[in-house]
Amino acid sequence: MPYTTGKMVEESAELARLRAENWRLKHELGEQRERYQSMLDNELVGFLVASFELNRFLDTNETYCEFLGFEREELLNCDPYQFWLDTTFAADREAELKQLQRIVDGEISSYRLRKRFVRKTGEVRWGELGYSAVRDPHGRLRYGILTCADAHDQQHELEAREKLQTSLLQAQKLETVGRLVGGVAHDFNNRLHVIMGHADMLQRSVSEPTLAFHAEIVVQSAQRAAELTRQLLAYSRRQMLRPQAVEVNSVVEGTQRMLERVLDEHVELVTVLEAKFPMLADSGQIEQVLMNLILNARDAMPEGGRITLRTFDVQVDDQAPLEGLAPGAYVALAVSDTGSGISASARPQIFEPFFTTKEVGRGTGLGLASVEGIVRQSGGSITVDSSEGHGSTFTVYLPRAAAGEPELSAAAAPGSTTIGAYIPCRPMLETVLLVDDQDDVRSLLAEVLSLGAYRVLEAKNGVQALTLARAHPEPIGLLVTDIVMPGLSGVELADALRSRNPNLKVLFMSGYAERDSLRVLQAHEQFIPKPFLPDELFRCVNGFLRA
Ligand SMILES: Nc1ncnc2c1ncn2[C@@H]1O[C@H](COP(=O)(O)OP(=O)(O)OP(=O)(O)O)[C@@H](O)[C@H]1O
Ligand SMILES: [Mg+2]
Repeated sequence: MPYTTGKMVEESAELARLRAENWRLKHELGEQRERYQSMLDNELVGFLVASFELNRFLDTNETYCEFLGFEREELLNCDPYQFWLDTTFAADREAELKQLQRIVDGEISSYRLRKRFVRKTGEVRWGELGYSAVRDPHGRLRYGILTCADAHDQQHELEAREKLQTSLLQAQKLETVGRLVGGVAHDFNNRLHVIMGHADMLQRSVSEPTLAFHAEIVVQSAQRAAELTRQLLAYSRRQMLRPQAVEVNSVVEGTQRMLERVLDEHVELVTVLEAKFPMLADSGQIEQVLMNLILNARDAMPEGGRITLRTFDVQVDDQAPLEGLAPGAYVALAVSDTGSGISASARPQIFEPFFTTKEVGRGTGLGLASVEGIVRQSGGSITVDSSEGHGSTFTVYLPRAAAGEPELSAAAAPGSTTIGAYIPCRPMLETVLLVDDQDDVRSLLAEVLSLGAYRVLEAKNGVQALTLARAHPEPIGLLVTDIVMPGLSGVELADALRSRNPNLKVLFMSGYAERDSLRVLQAHEQFIPKPFLPDELFRCVNGFLRA
């Protein structure tokens, strides 16, 4: 068939149409691509597509590049596995590898996880990663589509919330334990008081050695039980603490002789005393803290080693924060050893009461629990630095004492007077008004004071004491009162009596710290912790009345 002009015209029109169509499609594709890229680039979420076949990344967006600090070209030309290694925080790799393996095994087709990304600069940032796998109709992996979103601030908020939650739980636990221990200590200390007091008097009054020996054992056992209650009180932060300005260097020096007795010759003791300021604490308790930490250090070095005691001043502020401490000036006491160190599994538990790794009968596990209680109750904090096999350092931080902080008054300091010295007949000394709601405690104390030739007025509560005082013609030399009593507390009773006689001397007694007892200590009143032996009461009363 001859080729006609008409046909040619038809064909070239078709060609032109096709060209136009081609141009339109290209243009549309370009526009679509532009739209797609700008959509991706304006997306808040980072986006990355990997090809399994080509073993490289095919596409990404600005957000992903910015998040990791890479240029798009760098990313599209790198090795995906090496890139993953470089940009995934080492500790988070294993968890993600497990998920990737499940994708490869066909168990799952996508996963999400929060991980730490490492930016090109080395900076670590938390991100939320999403991974979806695309397979061909035969199930072979073709593409991996990754998304990631910055979760750094969110993660930090979460961690802060979790930390707050943990400390809230801890505070609630302590509150419950505190109430329990406080209640037990109150009753238990009263019972121990009576046992200790009577056994002590028995021991003094019998001449038969076997009986005296038995009485002595009773006193010693009661004292050990009292020590246990004291540690529990310390843990629950209900111990009676008398904070004063303490020269920590002197405490360390003063304890050194005692320490040398408990440490054998394979343990070297080094002291580095650099603290220039006194700390605000109860000096007896600082000795307890030091002793506990040193005994732990000794026990961690059965083959011998070196213990270093270091004291130094610390300033805590926003630039140099310290966990659990408000900004301010502190004095630190650090005990380091070259012993076994603490395993990662034991580490979270060492401050828990009754946690011990020592054999039965060697440790009660109350040492660190009470140390932490004392330190926290005193407004300080304790930190641990240890790795298994490389020794440990426990550092105690306590507030620096302000200038002019009072020292412990002389009346409470132990003297040398004993009951024995008072027993021979002598004229009656002053009148003591004795108030305690526990009958057996009160009659024991009355007996002790009478032995010391004091005239004793006994009352079982505040109201009775006020009536007695009003009816008594002669002045009362001393009020000895329990703090925690039903009705009027010891503090309220003292206030009422002092309103009539401002010079009245008062000696408070208590088995544990509660609101009123703390007021007593803060006001630097005379105080004796229960339980105590008759001699201790004597020394206190005698010294106080003569002061
Ligand atoms: N310096 C240390 N080196 C190694 N482990 C330590 C050290 N200090 C404490 N620990 C570990 O912490 C545990 C708890 O210590 P903690 O002082 O509370 O109790 P304990 O010493 O076992 O018993 P307790 O002090 O009541 O006699 C110890 O059993 C030990 O495992
Ligand atoms: Mg211990």
